Amino acid sequence: MPASLDNAAASLLARYKAVRNATATLCRPLSPEDMMVQSCPEASPVKWHLAHTSWFFETFVLSEFLAGYTPFHPDFRWLFNSYYNSLGEMPEKKLRSSFSRPPLDLILSYRASVDAGIERLLQHTVEDEAARRIALGIEHEQQHQELIATDVKHALFTNPLHPPYIEDASPAQGTTIAPPLEWIDFSPGLTEIGLTPDPNAIDCFAFDNETPRHPVYIAPYRLASRLVTCAEYLAFLDQNGYNRPELWLSEGWTAIRSEGWQAPLYWQRDSETKSGWSIYTLHGLIPLEDLSETPVCHLSFFEADAYARWTGYRLPTEFEWEYAAREAAPGARSNLLDTGSLHPTPAGHLSGLQQIFGDVWEWTASPYTGYPGYAPLPGALGEYNGKFMSSQMVLRGGSCVTPASHIRATYRNFFSPATRWQFSGLRLAR
Ligand SMILES: [Fe+2]
Repeated sequence: MPASLDNAAASLLARYKAVRNATATLCRPLSPEDMMVQSCPEASPVKWHLAHTSWFFETFVLSEFLAGYTPFHPDFRWLFNSYYNSLGEMPEKKLRSSFSRPPLDLILSYRASVDAGIERLLQHTVEDEAARRIALGIEHEQQHQELIATDVKHALFTNPLHPPYIEDASPAQGTTIAPPLEWIDFSPGLTEIGLTPDPNAIDCFAFDNETPRHPVYIAPYRLASRLVTCAEYLAFLDQNGYNRPELWLSEGWTAIRSEGWQAPLYWQRDSETKSGWSIYTLHGLIPLEDLSETPVCHLSFFEADAYARWTGYRLPTEFEWEYAAREAAPGARSNLLDTGSLHPTPAGHLSGLQQIFGDVWEWTASPYTGYPGYAPLPGALGEYNGKFMSSQMVLRGGSCVTPASHIRATYRNFFSPATRWQFSGLRLAR
């Protein structure tokens, strides 16, 4: 076999191990009890994430490509299936918190066994399809790393003690003041959006929903140089923003009324702070005044849209966002999971476009649909992205809990517009 292909298998294995280890690192501050909590319908227990990410490699890679592979446990194929209907039945999502059995030790053995299987498979050159699926499994695991962080945050917040996930580093802004908002001009005209990955370059990964690359006409627009801050959002609250129906989409108004929302998720009234508010973070509760220059987060699309309307501006489309971001790359200044801050941080004093990658996912005005010519992956993996292309909005740019090697300018995240448990915020456009 050609040496270059062996190198490809070796580099895929190195990437696999690094990402699997990163999941273990994320779980280190958690107790087995922490890993059992499922505190809202969107979230899953950490223990389930640990099993399900292994299930993905077992189901889509080992069972199909490792000769003589015997599944780790006969029940795991359906027990840890998330939503792949073509593979058969699965437990209801809300039951995941009842999985006290199988015990955590067995889940950890499952992970180790799957790791050994992937290592065995990658001792030799693998067929292209197996390599593509391992690469997909790696990206899938990184998506679940982000979910572990956001689900743990919700679980610990729901605990009446509001315990921190980690106590050491504080995300407080210090003396940093966010720079004044500048408007950056773009006049693109006809441009290309999306990515068509080179099938020969295994390092060039894209999800099917980022493809195919296609022409889009974009009218001249202006984009805010940085994200909206907590102080700016507090002004919206103080101006009675949550009680002015003219600012809200109909569904948004219904949502804030029925849910009783008067502030972003994790904002709590607190008479002992100067601002009258505290914000729950992965580092515990922090007075709002200590986070006022940091980007506002945990907003639904409806809140982001209402805020933009209140300012007289709007949310960018996903195409405007991508056009602006294409020259940028996740860099040393991007506040992604790898920085360890676990909370958005203030923009620096640089001029030009800032905070494009990391800090918060940016809600866009674009509905999540397939690009012209979009085709889901063949087989059960076609259920990965395509079947969610209704009633969801696109978010761009990654957050402070997105792994740095996972994000890129063409990446499309998507959630239903009332979703708030992700690190989601906004950037204005006009
Ligand atoms: Fe998944």
